[in-house]
Amino acid sequence: MNISIIGSGHVGLVTGACLADLGHQVVCVDNDHQKISKLKQGIIPFYEPGLQEVVSVNFLEGRLRFTESIAEGTRHGQVIFIAVGTPSKKTGEADLSAIERVCKEIGRNMDEYRVIVEKSTVPVQTGEWVAQNLEKYAREGVEFDVASVPEFLREGSAVKDFKYPDRIVIGVSSDRAAGLLVKIFEPLNAPILLTDIKSAELIKHSANAFLALKISFINAVAHICELSGADIGKVAKGIGLDQRIGMEFLKPGIGFGGSCFPKDLSGYIAISKQLGYDFELLREVERINAFAQYKAIEKLKQLLGEDLSGKRISVLGLAFKPGTDDVRQSPAISVIQRLIEEGAIVSATDPVAIEEAKIELADTVKYFQDPYEACCGADAVVIATEWDQFRNIDLSRLKSIMNRPIIVDGRNVFEPFRMKEIGFKYMGVGRRYLEE
Ligand code: UDX
Repeated sequence: MNISIIGSGHVGLVTGACLADLGHQVVCVDNDHQKISKLKQGIIPFYEPGLQEVVSVNFLEGRLRFTESIAEGTRHGQVIFIAVGTPSKKTGEADLSAIERVCKEIGRNMDEYRVIVEKSTVPVQTGEWVAQNLEKYAREGVEFDVASVPEFLREGSAVKDFKYPDRIVIGVSSDRAAGLLVKIFEPLNAPILLTDIKSAELIKHSANAFLALKISFINAVAHICELSGADIGKVAKGIGLDQRIGMEFLKPGIGFGGSCFPKDLSGYIAISKQLGYDFELLREVERINAFAQYKAIEKLKQLLGEDLSGKRISVLGLAFKPGTDDVRQSPAISVIQRLIEEGAIVSATDPVAIEEAKIELADTVKYFQDPYEACCGADAVVIATEWDQFRNIDLSRLKSIMNRPIIVDGRNVFEPFRMKEIGFKYMGVGRRYLEE
């Protein structure tokens, strides 16, 4: 089938490349000239394991093309996925202006039946608004359907998530659109949930909000563990083994970040408010997440003294999680910004995210490729992202190059007893402080 994807960011490019891999003829569109020219040269503009290969193979075999023209995309794709950004406005609402612009262009350029699919995360009822926008610009007599096929892929495992999804949600209002979309996704052999558009939109917001809630829940329990002397590792396992709860997303730490959870939570809170409901539970999820980041600083103060000014702090990890160079809403970045406000001298390292972090932090931080260089002379180390490179670090060597043997482990990468053996003053998350 001929398919177009408007917006070639993380979601759009992975979707486009993987659909081409299923044998479809795909055109990926983006208005970022640099991005499209890079893609035409086979350069992926962000780090995503496995994506390079899928893009290269399908590009070379002629199933994947790139263009800056929405008109070209609209002419090509019988099914058009909209995967442009929906960032948060200051009010927390999703900013749908990019979708509006895209609808205008698609509407003007449609000359026969098209299915326009919301792939970006949008608030419930956006489908109706998308249809109105298309209607406004569409030529008379040109038929179209709107649909919602939310994306559940995670950065760092996006290609795998696309190929082996837990489920595929298809929100439609016509059998014609349902038929085309089922045909596209059937080869993935995953359960397909056919639903109305509003339910599909709400499934996406609710899935992300629920996962974020699980993380904040475990972070709140981790706090109680610290206050009471219990061990979060044991508690998480003990509750996660209950199949109704499950082990996933019960890892405590310095909080969640990324391009989805924070934005989707505020978008969900905003649309709920518009609909007349104060989703206090989700506001609490946000509050606990901010508290988890703040606690990393508090722990440093406990170990180093209240005044952090002039203290040399080394931060291991900049990306919002391992496996990506994305630093959007990264807890590591928030912690660093806080440290700088407190007057600390910060050095940092990350296997892939240094260039992205520079855009946020500029030269307020000294960056090192090598974790040992980053930690040389440090008064304390903060583990902010659980990359394997940090898990495998030589701890004795680390201790020997640091000014003081202090580690605040924001991702519970290390075992407290081991840290004690080596002689570190160590604080993880939700575990007994073993430095006394
Ligand atoms: C998320 C959803 O998982 C995905 O389905 C959706 O399509 C997009 O948003 P992503 O943002 O890529 O994916 O990352 P994810 O792996 O979900 O992690 C999000 C954040 O939660 C990270 O900062 C991670 O460190 C944190 N996290 C995750 C925890 O703190 N504890 C956990 O147990 C799991």
